[in-house]
Amino acid sequence: MSIVFLSPTGQTGGAEAALHDLLAGLRESHPSWSLRLIVASDGPLVARVEALGVPVQILPFPSSLARLGDWGVGRGWWQRVTFLARCAGTAVPALGYLRRLRGVLHAAGPDVIHTNGLKMHLLGAWARPYGSAVLWHLHDYAGRRPFTARLLRRFAHRCSAIVANSSSVAEDMRQVCGDAIAIHPVWNAVDLTRFSPNGTRADLDALSGLAPDADALRIGLVATFARWKGHATFVKALAMLPPSLPVRGYIIGGPLYETSGSQVSIDELRALVTSLGLESRVGFTGFVQDSASAMRALDIVVHASTDPEPFGLVIAEAMACGKPVVASRAGGAAELTEPGVNALGHEPGDVAALAQCMATLAHDAGLRERLSRAALRTASQRFTRQRMARELTSIYEAVVPA
Ligand code: GLC
Repeated sequence: MSIVFLSPTGQTGGAEAALHDLLAGLRESHPSWSLRLIVASDGPLVARVEALGVPVQILPFPSSLARLGDWGVGRGWWQRVTFLARCAGTAVPALGYLRRLRGVLHAAGPDVIHTNGLKMHLLGAWARPYGSAVLWHLHDYAGRRPFTARLLRRFAHRCSAIVANSSSVAEDMRQVCGDAIAIHPVWNAVDLTRFSPNGTRADLDALSGLAPDADALRIGLVATFARWKGHATFVKALAMLPPSLPVRGYIIGGPLYETSGSQVSIDELRALVTSLGLESRVGFTGFVQDSASAMRALDIVVHASTDPEPFGLVIAEAMACGKPVVASRAGGAAELTEPGVNALGHEPGDVAALAQCMATLAHDAGLRERLSRAALRTASQRFTRQRMARELTSIYEAVVPA
């Protein structure tokens, strides 16, 4: 079996981390398969994938194509006109890119082209050589983005199967594309050797420039700076905790993707922290490359997405580190946990409910311990790379004629 993977970025957000774990799982289960990755920008993913023994080629997007995104483009006519004008401006460089990609794919002639991001779904489907099957791996809800949804619906017939990172994302795609194409929900995996209770712990106070406080209970939100990751919800919930509770909050992560308009800025978040008088209780660590060491340094991991979360890799990673998690219960994220058993849950954007969960856990070390043990059990049963590789293997075998 030969597979070429296409990623629109070499940065390591959730979709790329999931891709890396899939490649690691496939390398292990099928050492003889030919795997190869093409990325549209350089970044840490490149070295991590090469370290698995999978060759990587960087085929950079023209900058206008890298920046193009329909995040937040709603029904307002002005937004739509501006967006369409930007699309038009991108058309010529995008066609040049498509030509280059087509050349590379024709030379490789893989059995499967596995695409991992909206732009690559379309480019992969357009550049597909005769005889290669295209498989779209969805990590986000297409149905919430009208332009994307229309394009995917229009070109879905060019792909052989769709993989979605949760049942919720699979259902959304069924609404977009109908039943003509097989859509398989496959949960992501986590590297359980890296995300485990044992290992180094990051010094979160030093990273965020806060005075050291060995006794504080550390609660953190680990996320990219996408607007819907709920940073403001988290900060406001921290502000509701009684000042007598020895708690510190950490915002771990930073803006990652280039798509314009999609990221919250650190200045906005700092201004919110200042307006709530939380400067000495909330730290900003910036992006921490070894997020497992940051999670291990926390007592509680918060997931606060205000929109339905397609999967929520951070939830799975935190569980694998044996952390009590408070998760926002919507979308795929709601499939991963059982509230009260292996995590706690709150409704997306419900500041008071999130504060209540954090306070309950802060007061109850026994509950933290119980959730931690159950989370570890769940992770070792459901988030292994072997399971993910096995599920994908049957899908590849189904789309490639024997
Ligand atoms: C995207 C989704 C996130 C998921 C990740 C990996 O980043 O937004 O929910 O965990 O992909 O599938």
